[in-house]
Amino acid sequence: MDSYGKKIGAHPESLMMGHGYVPEWSEGAIKPPLFLTSTFVFKNAEEGEAYFRQAYGMDPIDKEHPMGLIYSRLNNPVLEILEDRLRVWEDADSALSFASGMAAISTTVLSLCRPGDQVVYTIPVYGGTDFFFNHIAPAYQIEAIPVEAGSDVVEKIRQMDLPRLRMLYVETPANPTNLMTDIVAIAELKKERSRKPTQDEIDTKAILPGEVILAVDNTFMGPVWQQPIRQGADISIYSATKFIGGHSDLIAGVVMGRENIMNQVMLFRTILGTMTDPFTAWLMLRSLETLKIRMEAQSRSAIKLARFLEDHPAVGRVLYPGLLEEGTRQHAIWRSQCSGPGSLIAFEMKDASDKARAFRVLNRLTIAHLAVSLGGTETLVEHPSAMTHSDVSLEHQARAGITPGMIRVSLGIENIEDILEDFRQALDPES
Ligand SMILES: Cc1ncc(COP(=O)(O)O)c(C=O)c1O
Repeated sequence: MDSYGKKIGAHPESLMMGHGYVPEWSEGAIKPPLFLTSTFVFKNAEEGEAYFRQAYGMDPIDKEHPMGLIYSRLNNPVLEILEDRLRVWEDADSALSFASGMAAISTTVLSLCRPGDQVVYTIPVYGGTDFFFNHIAPAYQIEAIPVEAGSDVVEKIRQMDLPRLRMLYVETPANPTNLMTDIVAIAELKKERSRKPTQDEIDTKAILPGEVILAVDNTFMGPVWQQPIRQGADISIYSATKFIGGHSDLIAGVVMGRENIMNQVMLFRTILGTMTDPFTAWLMLRSLETLKIRMEAQSRSAIKLARFLEDHPAVGRVLYPGLLEEGTRQHAIWRSQCSGPGSLIAFEMKDASDKARAFRVLNRLTIAHLAVSLGGTETLVEHPSAMTHSDVSLEHQARAGITPGMIRVSLGIENIEDILEDFRQALDPES
């Protein structure tokens, strides 16, 4: 029995050192071994039959009836331990790991939406997600409708004609502008727009036909600074390539949420084969042990860099939750749903249309690497308009607040004095 930390109600960061694994299972090894195996041997034919009934949704999978091990496309001990630990952060019923953040997003949307359904999604949104909603979802007759992220999202959605609304998809803070969307307010809207389930539907634990599902991409702040499930979201999605992996050496995704919804996502992951592999899962387990201290250190540096940029004469707007002005709605949303400012900053050149100047700064930085992605131990810079969001039309970019003079920074864990010095020399017009 796994009792690690239970007696004392240990914090998530402590549970990352032992939850979901008992050393006795593996010769006393303090770390879970890596199970490089494609298939698992059944004790007898009856066991094999019972496990397959679970795998294909004929029998329940829940805490009392955990899924039996069959084949590593369905599950693997390392994935199970990882998923148990991930779930802890948001107190979700269950978590699933995926081959990438995009595998997590696409599997989730395809498993929960049907032809004719409508999805409203906030913009800006990660470029790959935008591509999925614009080019892939329509091929399955799923109508995806963008709405600008920010304080007044709920008011805007209320004015839309949405007779077949199935999903509200929110990325908050938004990539790259850090615009905040109020999860609690959207969760209220979701309740208003959902049809009351019949008792039969509740009893069968089916995905409720009239239910609007609220999905939140929690990559930028989660799981340490923001936990959407605690605020009323049904599912929380991550590119685990970012903070959870944390070392820019793997690609992975995570979805966590309510049991009945997760079972449906699990069924699609099994058949689409979008799970992560055991070695990547093992690397993530190792990364989870340092997740909180990494994210804390990254945030401390981000606060310093954001203040430095704010005071710099060559810099215009600095978009960072830690700089939000008290008394504004954005600040109120941030205070109520996040416990920290995070470590992603978007800033503009004094002239927000000055792409050449932004490129010059990017080309002059020596410690900060010019690369997309975020959340790793090294500081990364990129140009959203020409890179991560280049598939988004310029008109959409402008609507979403992405400008040619904008640079996105993801802080690493280097000595912050070196980072400040690097930006100082890169922004200096004389040098
Ligand atoms: C907010 C956000 N969501 C999802 C993704 C997609 O994740 P992945 O690259 O792991 O597929 C990214 C990638 O940058 C992202 O920034």
